Amino acid sequence: MKTEGLKRRILEMFGGEVAHKLWVLMNKLTRWNLPYAIYASWNIEEPPKELIELVEGGCVEPCRALEVGCGMGNYIIYLASKGFDGVGIDVSHVAIRRAKAKAAKRNVNCRFYVLDFLDLKAISSVMKGFFDLVMDHCCFHTISKQDRRLYLSSLKSLTHPGSLYLLWEFHPGSSTPFRQLIVDPQDVEALFSHDFKILEQRIATREYMLYIMERKNSV
Ligand SMILES: C[S@@+](CC[C@H](N)C(=O)[O-])C[C@H]1O[C@@H](n2cnc3c(N)ncnc32)[C@H](O)[C@@H]1O
Repeated sequence: MKTEGLKRRILEMFGGEVAHKLWVLMNKLTRWNLPYAIYASWNIEEPPKELIELVEGGCVEPCRALEVGCGMGNYIIYLASKGFDGVGIDVSHVAIRRAKAKAAKRNVNCRFYVLDFLDLKAISSVMKGFFDLVMDHCCFHTISKQDRRLYLSSLKSLTHPGSLYLLWEFHPGSSTPFRQLIVDPQDVEALFSHDFKILEQRIATREYMLYIMERKNSV
């Protein structure tokens, strides 16, 4: 594929570290709109197999579900098609426009909002009530360490005791050239374990670790 070749060339020319620095320099909107307007290399239509197993194996039943950083909406559209009351949010309006078009084309009822998950005020003014299930497929690992507490505040504001939280992130053994995006499992534990019980943590694919967490009863 031509674009894959191009991506490889850029990585060979600049290396993951420089490419990542250029990426960080772009402002948040350009950074997340541009790829969706041209080519979002990470976009994979097929939901992660662990999600399919949890849903189709009956471990996670239809409920109110949110996908954070949903991109083009593939996974929340999948959940909505299985009877979940699905909401997807993303900071990229290009991604959300494409997600809405995809849901409409597939005749799936799913709501999408352009929202910055680090902006608790904006989140609280748009999102009402709690979600029983929140999933994040590779959004959290793009959030800088210093912003992760903001992410946690929004997550806490939208979950109730017992809510499930599914998180897929690059793990230390991943071969990604973007080494800066790798999330140390100890950092995940340090950030979440006060409010969430980590039920399971497993290497899901060559690249990704899946964490299954449950919001604690009282904190
Ligand atoms: C690597 S992409 C993954 C997209 C999608 N979950 C997937 O797996 O295809 C990261 C996504 O997180 C979104 N994102 C990054 N920071 C965000 C924020 N602060 N609030 C909401 N979405 C954000 C980006 O726009 C992008 O769609």
